[in-house]
Amino acid sequence: MQTGIANFDYYNPTRIVFGKNRLNELTEMVPKDKKVLLLYGGGSVKKFGTLDKIKQVLKDYTVGEFGGIEANPTYETLMKAVQLVREEGYDFLLAIGGGSVIDGTKFVAAGALFDGDPIDMFGQGVGAHRPIERALPFGTVLTLPATGSEMNSGGVVTFVEKKAKLGFGSAFTFPVFSILDPELTYTLPKRQLANGVIDAFVHVMEQYMTYPVGALVQDRYAEGLLSTLIEIGPKVIDETNHDYNLRANFMWAATNALNGSINRGVPGDWSSHSLGHEITALYGIDHGRTLAIVLPALLEVRKEQKFDKLLQYAERVWGIQEGTADEKVEFAIKKTGQFFEILGAGTHFSDYDLGEEVVDELVDQLEKHQLTAISERGDQTLAISRQIYQKALRPD
Ligand code: NZQ
Ligand code: ZN
Repeated sequence: MQTGIANFDYYNPTRIVFGKNRLNELTEMVPKDKKVLLLYGGGSVKKFGTLDKIKQVLKDYTVGEFGGIEANPTYETLMKAVQLVREEGYDFLLAIGGGSVIDGTKFVAAGALFDGDPIDMFGQGVGAHRPIERALPFGTVLTLPATGSEMNSGGVVTFVEKKAKLGFGSAFTFPVFSILDPELTYTLPKRQLANGVIDAFVHVMEQYMTYPVGALVQDRYAEGLLSTLIEIGPKVIDETNHDYNLRANFMWAATNALNGSINRGVPGDWSSHSLGHEITALYGIDHGRTLAIVLPALLEVRKEQKFDKLLQYAERVWGIQEGTADEKVEFAIKKTGQFFEILGAGTHFSDYDLGEEVVDELVDQLEKHQLTAISERGDQTLAISRQIYQKALRPD
């Protein structure tokens, strides 16, 4: 176990272009000689006019389009984009959308130049796992604050036939730039706003809720983000509230939650995501909601291992000063679940009409994907993950 702050490098090459009405600046950031492919999802960017605006700004460029990237983007769809890029020689990609479109674009950027079959970017029983060594340059226009994908180098892809949802990443898959216009979030429905708040919150928790190593900056930074999300979350999910600062704070909090700044030199525990991805892969539940199911149960089951940090979280983030250490920790875990519920996300499988049958199926999936020794200590076995799923079945 790590006892102090570990050595680290910190390099994030993504240029953030934050604020209102900045799409015009695309012409300063996309090199003039590039053949540009615009990638987007199921149509929100068409419906709300963002795609047209971007096409207008890029009218002097050679531009193509690839739409239809699903939420939880699939390998099958993304490979069609890889083929298009290879056949037609696109050399700059522009993602317009949320985490799914951005992740998908990262995959296409790397897949188009991958030596051999891009499935080998992945391991865990799906591919041979060879490193990504190059990728096409790409930018993003973010429409959904949630994943942090706009300022990190990772992505998650769903394999429909194999029923798997797996991550990839590399030093070559950072966006060159990301345009973050909070006004583009005004068209989001409540469900996606809530998913975004929860996803960002859990990203911070996974880089914070481990054991103390004396990293004061990282801890306070993480606590600041958690407190911000708790403060603004209930207002953010009001889809009719178009207060600019509210959405700007939400957007910047979500980006900072997973842009590699709060986890430098500290232990991390990505097991909520690992357990959550299996739920999406089998039952199609939104990413944010899977985390609302897993995290509260995980904190209960792993209370002992995470006790010191849980107490710090209780006191500093939730301001709980009364009671014994045990009571404070219990209360903080309860508050966490309640927070997700206030945002409208059920925290148990029973809220999604799922029961007992899920436990074996999900544990089998974890085993298949070699997720048998996870968490900050590598001691979360399948038996412990089973306990977590079990605990999340229904309220006690
Ligand atoms: O597809 P369209 O029509 O664009 O609609 C989308 C989609 O249905 C809609 N939407 C997006 N922006 C909108 C909008 N609707 C109205 N107005 C707007 N401005 O929202 C729906 C969900 O979009 P999606 O991109 O799927 O959501 P999110 O940003 O939550 O991304 C989820 C994906 O990101 C992965 C998840 O696993 C999941 O596959 N993650 C990526 C991470 C990363 N790269 O670092 C980390 C995360 O932990 C996460 O795993
Ligand atoms: Zn996430």
